[in-house]
Amino acid sequence: MDWGLKNRLSRIIRPKTGHTVMLAIDHGYFLGPMTKLEKPGETVKPLLDDADALMLTRGVLRNCIPAELDKPMVLRVSGGTSVLKDDLSQEGLTTSMDDAVRLNASAVAMSIFVGAPGERESILNLAELVNEAEEVGMPVLAVTAVGKELAKRDARYLGLACRIAAEHGAHFVKTYYCGGFEQVVDKCPVPCVIAGGPKLETEMDAFRMAYDAIQAGAIGVDMGRNIWQSEFPAAKIKAVNAIVHKGLTAKEANQLYEEAKSKAKK
Ligand code: R5P
Repeated sequence: MDWGLKNRLSRIIRPKTGHTVMLAIDHGYFLGPMTKLEKPGETVKPLLDDADALMLTRGVLRNCIPAELDKPMVLRVSGGTSVLKDDLSQEGLTTSMDDAVRLNASAVAMSIFVGAPGERESILNLAELVNEAEEVGMPVLAVTAVGKELAKRDARYLGLACRIAAEHGAHFVKTYYCGGFEQVVDKCPVPCVIAGGPKLETEMDAFRMAYDAIQAGAIGVDMGRNIWQSEFPAAKIKAVNAIVHKGLTAKEANQLYEEAKSKAKK
């Protein structure tokens, strides 16, 4: 791995722990102004201390995030669809590598849609993105997207999708947690982080998922809704961070969450 690429990655994945807490706020690129993400700049402010990186689009980066912020940015560079259509798999590349470099991105991210109508184009787009990224030492995060078909999230499917992403050159992969997740990680030659998915019923559910993912070999999370749609987002990300970097169990993390929550209420 070239020095520049390694250096960029090491800003996202903390060298001391080999783990990362990425905060995903890119949802608006096909979902519009989601609840609690209406003003992304305001949403992230109280969460930055416990986030190792932000994942976002260039529009939000340029308009909502101060350029003085010393935080690595993972730039989503795919899009072109909206939630109003049934098939979300027809994404294309939205952002040039020149623009990613201009924005001082620490990585670029795009979705692939394995098994969906847009499969071929999205995988070829990933390969092309990697070609361009290797030229400038830019890490590529492939997101194994499932569109509206959340039921696809099992180890067989996600293992296939992650492996395909790695085979096409992604430097790290973002996928969903599922039963048998160690199989997904074992057969994927690059590091995996998990998305949180839709907000889970309880905070403890999210802590369990993060803990189980780390135990199964994930190097971290790239979580959005389960953090910023929480009633106490700052307490939530603090607890998730402690699971990822300090090895807290879900129960210990929940205790930390409750303590941080009480302080926030005072
Ligand atoms: C999809 O909308 C984006 O790629 C998100 O970054 C990803 O789904 C992670 O966010 P969440 O934890 O809300 O699923």
